[in-house]
Amino acid sequence: MQINVIQGSLPEIECDALIVNLFEGVTDPGGGTGAVNKALEGLLKIELIDKDEFKAKLGSISILPTYGKIPARKVVLVGLGKKEDFDLNSIRKVSAEAIKACKKLKALKVCSILHGASIDTLSASECAQALAEGAILAAYKFDKYKSKKSDTDDDEPKVDINELNIVEFDHNKISDIQTGINKGTIIAQATNLARDLANEPASYLTPTKLSEVAESIGLECKVFDKDEIEKMGMNSYLGVSQGSVQPPKFIHLIYRPDGTPKKKIALVGKGITFDSGGLCLKPATGMLDMKKDMSGAAATLGVLKAIKDLKPDLEIHGIIPACENMPDGNSYKPGDILKAKNGKTIEIINTDAEGRLILADALCYAVEQGVDEIIDIATLTGAVVVALGNACAGIMTNKQELVDSFVEKIKYSGEKVWQLPIMTEYEEQLKSDIADIKNLGNREAGSSVGGMLLKEFVGDTPWLHIDIAGVAWKSADKYENPKGCSGFGVRSIVYYLLNH
Ligand code: BES
Ligand code: ZN
Ligand code: ZN
Repeated sequence: MQINVIQGSLPEIECDALIVNLFEGVTDPGGGTGAVNKALEGLLKIELIDKDEFKAKLGSISILPTYGKIPARKVVLVGLGKKEDFDLNSIRKVSAEAIKACKKLKALKVCSILHGASIDTLSASECAQALAEGAILAAYKFDKYKSKKSDTDDDEPKVDINELNIVEFDHNKISDIQTGINKGTIIAQATNLARDLANEPASYLTPTKLSEVAESIGLECKVFDKDEIEKMGMNSYLGVSQGSVQPPKFIHLIYRPDGTPKKKIALVGKGITFDSGGLCLKPATGMLDMKKDMSGAAATLGVLKAIKDLKPDLEIHGIIPACENMPDGNSYKPGDILKAKNGKTIEIINTDAEGRLILADALCYAVEQGVDEIIDIATLTGAVVVALGNACAGIMTNKQELVDSFVEKIKYSGEKVWQLPIMTEYEEQLKSDIADIKNLGNREAGSSVGGMLLKEFVGDTPWLHIDIAGVAWKSADKYENPKGCSGFGVRSIVYYLLNH
């Protein structure tokens, strides 16, 4: 789907579906929707609003045939919800619902009003960005392995929307709208790359395949193989990988801006391409989804891909320890002691708490890059799913200002986070009788304890940990998130980086 802006008047536009909008409580539409209603001789108001069928709840949809009164074949009216609650996140949701309705109508050419254009505090560019993000994210489908491509349950053949045009009357706004569209397209496509990678079966998306994808992004990229990983002293990471026939790959991508960077930031993503639990084998139901245990790595690649095009004044390092966690005669065992890159020894209590072991070495590596801050993103703990469900990711830090600034900067990214505590009271859980620390506590405050193990490896570098175990996968279609792997983290981290 190609998104563009065109100058023109909504009622005069020829297309298969014309998207207009309405705030809750409005009975007499104005602006672009009003103009379309007028051209339709009031039918929009008579049929949809006065008959009280359409309450304009956020994302609600009503469709009106145009009976040849205007060149558009159908009008898709989308509800904007209450004006006082409306923001950029609403635009993304509204755009998502509208585009899904147009897909159902099998529209090839879609034109849309710019949602939010009537709100003084919102710029045309940011409204267009949110609209583009919502449309591209909602139109996503992972159907590579389906022989019959369909959007509906009744197996009707899938029809892809060819073009979506934002229609703007004022030619002074055209270039701002195009800028927003470009930015939104880059961010949404990067999210879709992360979704694709996480949705791929683990037997296809191996650590080697992941490293090839990283190399194809077109940034400076180093891929370290097993011998090099060993030379770097990453024995905690190697311990996890040793039960698999798939060789580990340590990936380091670098984006360097033109000129001096304002800041150097490392992004570290958990890249377990399949988590069977290792010798502490997971039950079948718990293992089913574990191809997604590289969602942190997928988000990291998505962010780097977007950043390459969006070009912020920051130096950004994407670091991914990739491997499988498998049971085998060579597997690491409960009771083993692994020595991480910084010399700390870790007693293995459970081989299924492997994410923290590979991240320990990757975080040491990130610190050695001399960065100003480190963000890690990982499907780290089942406990975060219990604590927060799938509405938001859990975040932790060793520097409160970092969480505060992150939360502020990602407000309109459409992704939510909630801070979990790091407390001295929990330190006891990581104490080992025979090593410096152990890899698992007693399951109380499991996400905090997982995060606190990571903290042992970042030294004084400001660090933010994002546990995405609950949000990496959506169980049902909702607004811009289709069922399946979500690509969570791409949008929030890109928003964070761009707002510097
Ligand atoms: N990859 C899992 C965490 C996870 C759980 C991700 C659910 C996505 C959804 C992690 O490696 C793991 O297995 N954690 C275990 C550790 C256990 C030994 C306490 C967990 O949290 O259940
Ligand atoms: Zn595990
Ligand atoms: Zn895992």
